[in-house]
Amino acid sequence: MPYRHAVVRANYEDLASGGVLHSAPGFPAFPVRLASEMFQSALALRGGGPALVWDPCCGGGYLLTVVALLHRRLVSGVVASDFNAEAVHLAERNLGLLTATGLAARAAELDERAARYDKPAYAAAALAAGRLAQGLSAEGGDVRGVARRADVFDPDALRDALGGLRPDVVLTDVPYGEQTSWLGPGAEGGLGSMVRALGQVLDEDAVIAVAVRGRKVPTDGGPRPHATYKIGTRTVALFRPTS
Ligand SMILES: C[S@@+](CC[C@H](N)C(=O)[O-])C[C@H]1O[C@@H](n2cnc3c(N)ncnc32)[C@H](O)[C@@H]1O
Repeated sequence: MPYRHAVVRANYEDLASGGVLHSAPGFPAFPVRLASEMFQSALALRGGGPALVWDPCCGGGYLLTVVALLHRRLVSGVVASDFNAEAVHLAERNLGLLTATGLAARAAELDERAARYDKPAYAAAALAAGRLAQGLSAEGGDVRGVARRADVFDPDALRDALGGLRPDVVLTDVPYGEQTSWLGPGAEGGLGSMVRALGQVLDEDAVIAVAVRGRKVPTDGGPRPHATYKIGTRTVALFRPTS
């Protein structure tokens, strides 16, 4: 299927993982244009204004961070959670880049590395941090973000992680069993269990957008998606909490 929302193939170089955005081995990035399409398709289904966006399998927080930087005016805040404490730590660092002070500190760090190691790539990334800061400021300023540890199969843990926040849109890229796998005691429940648990903590008008590898959405007899579409090697399924 062609893109219906992210119709312009933009230059996403400033958002490359490991440039301005922090990366670490074992924490895969996500295609930026697909992230934009997922967010916009979920928001179109939900309707309404700026959304609080939650990734409950956030990994390093890449997906959330790029969506907030690309669509600042449509994002009222971001929530990241993951079973893996190391992922939550990396996500926290990336969500820290959604503020003017976070991006200024990152630019200074990259400039310092450019001087110390005489590497032009660091200097280029420092300039990119400056451009991202300008864009953020022009589009509405700092984005509030929180990163917490929670098992996506456990509604009580999810409620604790949200601490009263009420996400409008869930965007997530689930484990594929390659670089990342399902973790925790509920791991066998897979996607269907995840959507059921999310449905217990979300408002009825929220939308859950999930990316999976391949053509089939393995719902395992669980909730049925409201819509699906395929882009590249991934399929995106859109669920309502009451699916
Ligand atoms: C494909 S990665 C997500 C990448 C992420 N969206 C990003 O942009 O960086 C899948 C994530 O699911 C997490 N995960 C696995 N089992 C989980 C569980 N039971 N609860 C919450 N997260 C889980 C893994 O730790 C991993 O970080």
